[in-house]
Amino acid sequence: MSLKKLIVANWKQNGSITKLRLLTSNIIKSAKKLKVTNNIVILPPYVHLAMLSKELEKNKFGNKIVLGAQNISPFDDGAFTGEISIKMCNEFSCRYFLVGHSERREIFSESDDLISLKVLKVVENNKKVILCIGESLLQRKKNIQMKVLSSQLKKGLSKLSPTMRRNKVNNIIIAYEPIWAIGTGRSASIEDIYSTHAYISTVLKTLFPVKDKIPKILYGGSVNNKNSSEILSINGVDGALVGGASLNAKKFIDICSSI
Ligand code: PGA
Repeated sequence: MSLKKLIVANWKQNGSITKLRLLTSNIIKSAKKLKVTNNIVILPPYVHLAMLSKELEKNKFGNKIVLGAQNISPFDDGAFTGEISIKMCNEFSCRYFLVGHSERREIFSESDDLISLKVLKVVENNKKVILCIGESLLQRKKNIQMKVLSSQLKKGLSKLSPTMRRNKVNNIIIAYEPIWAIGTGRSASIEDIYSTHAYISTVLKTLFPVKDKIPKILYGGSVNNKNSSEILSINGVDGALVGGASLNAKKFIDICSSI
């Protein structure tokens, strides 16, 4: 396992050109000053990708901080009103694509089947997919969270052929985000994160045929600059997916430099 962690900023549907330009330049300045070594990915709203890619290029920081998108069309260019394709994102050097976030599953009714097509599209294009999985509070109360996670993983990855699973394991990242922890200020406990990540690894070992090589697993859900050090030190946590705290340059860079 690489010692470098992957820290992903999910800006969701927030900001304006002015606000996000300032946020980006503050993140770049602090990352340079603190010589952050962890890998950083920023997922801005689509309409700000052009501005972000210019800022990163201008500051010659294009390799330390890379760009991604919060969602992706499962189709190539064509008559799909309202969708954005991988080819379009490529023009802004997007390397990562978030798929199956619980807000997309719940608010926009995205099914496991649609999610699996998006996963396939990203991997086929040799980009990195971050597949989000996570249980609701009700599912946790019913004690069926492991069943839910296993099913989301199996269905989400179902369209990848055995050859893809063997050759593209580095293009696949899993983000475990318990829904009840997202945006609530209440992250999962250290014990829960440890045991759930261990469970996810076990399922991934059955899905990926390469010995000792499974996708990285990130934790997400109320990660902040106070709990990040502890969370990122957990064995089996390869990084974090950060929502709210990534909209504050100081907090976000504290998280990125916390290990
Ligand atoms: P949060 O969001 O850090 O605000 O809980 C995480 C996410 O939704 O990815």
